[in-house]
Amino acid sequence: MLQALGRRLVSHFYKVAKTVGMFGFSNVITKEAVVTFMETSTSLFSQHDQVMLQTASECLFVNETRLKIDIEGFASFKFIIEELKRREIGGVYFRRGMSEADLCEFLRLFVQFDEEAGEAYAKIEEGLVAGGIHSIGLEEARELAEQVDQSEVAEGHREVSITTYFQSIFVAKQFMDSSRGVRTTNLRKANRVVHSIVDLVAEDERTLLALTQIKNYDDCLFTHSANVCVLAVALGQNIGLDKQLLGDLGLAAILHDLGLVGVAPSGDPDSPDQHPALGVRRILAGQGVSQASLRCALATLEHHLREDGSGFPELDPAHQCSLLGRIIAITDFYDTITTPDSGGSPTFSPEEALRLMAHEGREVFPHSLVKAFVNTIGTYPLGTAVKLSTDEVGIVHSRSTTLGDLNRPKVKIIQDADGKPVPHEVVDLTDVDPETGAHLRSIVAAIPAYAYFDDFQSFTDTL
Ligand SMILES: [Fe+2]
Ligand SMILES: [Fe+2]
Repeated sequence: MLQALGRRLVSHFYKVAKTVGMFGFSNVITKEAVVTFMETSTSLFSQHDQVMLQTASECLFVNETRLKIDIEGFASFKFIIEELKRREIGGVYFRRGMSEADLCEFLRLFVQFDEEAGEAYAKIEEGLVAGGIHSIGLEEARELAEQVDQSEVAEGHREVSITTYFQSIFVAKQFMDSSRGVRTTNLRKANRVVHSIVDLVAEDERTLLALTQIKNYDDCLFTHSANVCVLAVALGQNIGLDKQLLGDLGLAAILHDLGLVGVAPSGDPDSPDQHPALGVRRILAGQGVSQASLRCALATLEHHLREDGSGFPELDPAHQCSLLGRIIAITDFYDTITTPDSGGSPTFSPEEALRLMAHEGREVFPHSLVKAFVNTIGTYPLGTAVKLSTDEVGIVHSRSTTLGDLNRPKVKIIQDADGKPVPHEVVDLTDVDPETGAHLRSIVAAIPAYAYFDDFQSFTDTL
């Protein structure tokens, strides 16, 4: 309830702030946007005395509930986060009793004071006090940051993410080892791991997403299953799937290639094409028929089907793939083409793969989902090693938050221009030289993590 209303509030705040900025208050579109915002806030006030909209760590919260981002909401989320940050505002609260006049005065101040250097926050607050408005107030950005020791939280989260990632590889291996069916004990373990992945991704998916860059651990098939699971859950959470569906999606992702085990490269070129159907039989034999197992089986059946009717197995041409099947198709394809194989197929770098899927793959994959996938992992996925224009080498640490600068993530420098290791420092590639306006650093080449690091430990030390 709060989740849905909170998302509506963000979307309407976006519309009203945009229209006021563009057209002023006398325009009919602005008037409608003000009325819509008032209606949504009135719905929230029927259950809450105060509605607090806050931003922290690139997320939005309404009354401390983290709002899930979805495809339609993406632009409004980014806009609100950016606009609040630009004014050094950590949160805005709206209180029951807020009038239309209060809202309009706040919007007028918000649009008027958008300059940088920390003055916007103070001026808006002064304006609210001067106008005698008590139903709307601000919280400073740094007050939020002081509430928790972020470094301790991050360290604990990183360790749990690494452990969970390896558990997911282990669980995939157990399934593949008992390939004739899915044993109940394995299933319970898998469900536990998948739910940990869902929780970790909801908190902060950065470490888990970076770990999917590992491509050569033990047997590729188990790592592949774990990677598809993390990528699929992250994409699913980005488009707003609920926890139940995310759990089914994660399990389907772990199991999607179960049918490959025991399918010998017998010289029969059609044999691998049987693996989706074989996987379905094994899943249903082990899990029995339930809503969850059917969703899982259907996604497994569909993971090599394409939007233009190509792919396998051959189904009724009118068949529409399920959302979970489509998500697994995208993440499976991405992980497969970015992983080196013993057969010598060409390996794409993450950004080449994303470009291929977004452009040449237009007819093959649902475009809106591919866009959401790029938004989920970033044009330069987290954990990618990058060579910079300064000759330094770094690791992509977090996505760019500026819509126009998605190719300029934050990067952790690990090696200086002379090739010497340096204490890790995070730099923002959107930073510019104040005199010339030129970017201080740019990416000149991206190197997949598996190709750059000799061992797993040296990779995880950089995360
Ligand atoms: Fe497959
Ligand atoms: Fe696969």
